[in-house]
This record gives sequence, structure tokens and C-alpha cells, in this order.
Amino acid sequence: MSNNETKSGFSHEKIETNNFLMIVLILLTVAFGGLVEIVPLFFQKSTTEPITGLQPYTALQLAGRDIYTREGCYNCHSQMIRPFRAETLRYGHYSVAGESVYDHPFQWGSKRTGPDLARVGGKYSDDWQRIHLNNPRDLVPESIMPAYPWLEKTLVDADAMPAHMRALRTVGVPYTDAQIASAVEDVKGKTEQDALVAFLQVLGIHLK
Ligand code: HEC
Repeated sequence: MSNNETKSGFSHEKIETNNFLMIVLILLTVAFGGLVEIVPLFFQKSTTEPITGLQPYTALQLAGRDIYTREGCYNCHSQMIRPFRAETLRYGHYSVAGESVYDHPFQWGSKRTGPDLARVGGKYSDDWQRIHLNNPRDLVPESIMPAYPWLEKTLVDADAMPAHMRALRTVGVPYTDAQIASAVEDVKGKTEQDALVAFLQVLGIHLK
């Protein structure tokens, strides 16, 4: 009889020497721990409600957001400032969940070949952003960011926007019928660069 055997006859040794039992119990423990941590988040106001003043992306900003994901900007840029001093000193207030309730899919990420962009809105002028997108090295000589000169020459696919906005509405983004109806007009004739700059300039500006 091992010395950690209890009066009821239960021995921890039984678990430690039985692979199968050990795996099942580990899975149960991890699953339970995960549920306890994650499930409440679905019901908390701070994680499910938009922060005051948050607006759904306009048609132009939304088109820009699509270009951001299409071009894979997220491969080098996160959009989530962590609540650490080094981060908030560099990027500003840490990100809160209520800022991204209208983001489908969110762009938080953790890959930072370039800087975090969660609060890049308003940091530079539109002109700066345009020159930077056309060729980052014109502004930051040591930059390793790729150039995206074609965005300036390509028009946004205006006709795709209403369906896109309706789809977002089904997952909870409060677009009005009027916003959807005017979407095509709103982005017609705009370049992909116009759209991407509009998107970048709205990032993180709502938290007061
Ligand atoms: C290969 C990695 C890489 C990719 C892909 C990339 N970037 Fe960058 N980005 C960087 C690096 C590195 C910097 C810092 C140097 C600079 O400013 O150019 C940067 C800087 C920036 C900045 C300035 C941020 C600041 O606070 O100074 C913006 C805005 C930006 N990138 C937007 C974009 C957008 C939009 C895309 C997609 C069209 C993109 N980046 C794709 C690497 C990348």
C-alpha cells in the first residue's frame, strides 16, 4: 500500500501510472478551466458592447479594411495594444474589447514586424499615409515594408459594398438601410488607396 493512499482506498498513483486515465483527467481539467475563463466573457458588457461613440465603418472605411486584409497587412502589423507600460507609452491607451465589436474578423494579432496600428488613426496626415503606401522608403529610409503603388491606380469595387454591409448587419453591425442604400455612391470613383487611408485614419480614435 503506497503511503498517499487514503482511507477510502483512493491512490493518486493509480492516475499517475495510467496513461489513459491521466489524459482524460487532464482534458477534463483544461476544458473546465477554459470554460470558467471564457464563457463569462460572452455575457459581460465590457466585452460585448461597443464603447461610447463607436461607429460602424463607413462604406469607404470598410472597403479599406478589405484591402488591408487582402494585402495581408496583418502579417506584419497587430492591432492590439497590450496593457503594459512599454506598450502604452509607445502606442497610447491599451486596446479594449468594446473597440472592436464591429470588426469581423478582428485584426488583433500578435505579429509585429512593423509597429502596432491599433491607434494609428490621426497620427499622420492623409498625405503621409499616401506617400508611405506608395513607397515607405520615401519617408522612412530604413523601412522594410513593401510598397503598394497599385492601390493608387485601382478603383474600389463599389458594387460589392451593399451586400458586404448587409452580411455584416446579420452578425450585429448596426448599419441602417440608408447607409447600405448609399454605399455604392459613397465609394464610387474612389481608389483603393483612398479607402485604405480612410480606414487607417479611423483606427483607435473612438476611445476617449
Ligand atoms: C513585411 C512587413 C510589412 C507589411 C506586409 C506591411 N508593413 Fe506596414 N510597416 C512595416 C514596418 C517595418 C514599418 C515601420 C517602418 C515604416 O514606417 O515604414 C511599418 C510601418 C507602417 C505604418 C506606420 C506606423 C507608425 O506608427 O509609424 C503604417 C500606417 C503601415 N505600416 C501600414 C501598413 C499597411 C496598410 C500595410 C498593408 C497594405 C502594411 N503596412 C504592410 C512592415 C510591414
